[in-house]
Amino acid sequence: MSRPPQLHTSVYPAIAPETIGQANKDKVAVVTGAARGIGQAIAVALAKSGAKVALLDLDEARQADTRQTCEALGVEARAYACNVLDEEACVSTFARVEQDLGPVDILVNNVGGGTRRPMAMETFRQFWEGLEWNLKAAVLCIYQVLPGMRKRRRGCIINIASRAGTLPMPFSGSYCTGKGALIRLVSCLHKELQLDGLSDDIHVYALHPGATLSQEGLPFHADVEEAYPQEVEKWAKFHKTFKCLPAQCAQTCAFLAAGRGKVLNGKYFDCEQDIATVVGAGEEGLEGLYELKVEFLGGLPNDGGTASAVNIET
Ligand SMILES: NC(=O)c1ccc[n+]([C@@H]2O[C@H](COP(=O)([O-])OP(=O)(O)OC[C@H]3O[C@@H](n4cnc5c(N)ncnc54)[C@H](O)[C@@H]3O)[C@@H](O)[C@H]2O)c1
Repeated sequence: MSRPPQLHTSVYPAIAPETIGQANKDKVAVVTGAARGIGQAIAVALAKSGAKVALLDLDEARQADTRQTCEALGVEARAYACNVLDEEACVSTFARVEQDLGPVDILVNNVGGGTRRPMAMETFRQFWEGLEWNLKAAVLCIYQVLPGMRKRRRGCIINIASRAGTLPMPFSGSYCTGKGALIRLVSCLHKELQLDGLSDDIHVYALHPGATLSQEGLPFHADVEEAYPQEVEKWAKFHKTFKCLPAQCAQTCAFLAAGRGKVLNGKYFDCEQDIATVVGAGEEGLEGLYELKVEFLGGLPNDGGTASAVNIET
C-alpha cells in the first residue's frame, strides 16, 4: 500500500507558476464563472502560464478585474457576458471567442454551487435549477468545444466538481447529484476518446478544488436554519476548516492543462492532495483509484452481467 499524498492548503512547488513557466503559451483557454472566487484565480493562473483567456460570467463588467489582471500578465484576455445555462448564449459566445482569440484548447467549467435546501423544503423547480447549474452548464460548454478539439486532436477539459459528488450530504441533493454526474461524465467521455484513439490528445478531468473560502460559505436560508439548527451549526463548524486558497486549485488547472498530469486523465482529483506524488504513482499505482465506484460484500465484481459473476445459482 502506497503512502498517502501530503495535503496542501496553498500553492506548493510542483504547481507553482515558476515550475509551470509558459507551458500554456498561446493556447486559448475559456474559464466559466471567472468574475470572482475560484474561477477568477483559474483565469489568472492560466494567463500566468501564457494562455490567452476568455472569461465567461453573467455580465462582462463583473469580470473587469480578472481581465485587467490577466492582461497585466502580458496575455490577451476577453470578457464575455454569458449565462452558461443558456444554449443560444453559449453557442454565440463560443463562436465569438473563436473569432476573437482562436480555437479553444482549454475549457475550465467552473460555474456551480449549492442551493442548500433539503428536498422537503424546496420545489422540484429549485432542485432542477440546482442540478442544471452543476451539470447542464458544463455539458453545454463541452458540446461547444469538443467537435473542434476532436478535429484538431488537441484539447484539455477541466470540470470543477466537488467532494460532494463523491459523498452523500444533506441539503445538497441537487449539488451532490450534479457534481457526481459530472465526475461520471468525465470518465465516460475519456472512454469514448480512448475508443477513437484521441484520449492522449484530448484530456479530461474532474476536480475538487479543495475546501476554499468563497461564496460557498454563504449562510443557510433562515427557514432551513430554523428547521435544522444542529445541522446548520455542524456546517458552520465544518466551514471554519475551509483553508485552501483559490490559487491552489487554479495552479493545479494550469499544471493539468499543460499535460503534466495525464495519468489522471478521465479521473477525479482532489486539489488538496500533492499532485506530484499522485502523478508519480503512475498508471498502475492509480488503477481503480480517483474514480467513482460501488463495492460489494465479499468483493463480488460489478461486472455488468451475471454470466461472469461468481456464486451464480444454476
Ligand atoms: N469553495 C469551495 O470550497 C468549493 C468546494 C467544492 C466545489 N466548489 C466548486 O467550485 C466552483 C467555484 O466555486 P466558487 O466558490 O468560486 O463560486 P462563486 O459563487 O464564488 O463564483 C461563481 C462564479 O460563477 C458565476 N456564475 C454563476 N452562475 C453563472 C451562470 N449561469 N453563467 C455564467 N456565470 C455564472 C458567478 O457570477 C460567479 O462569478 C463551483 O462549481 C463550486 O461548486 C467550491
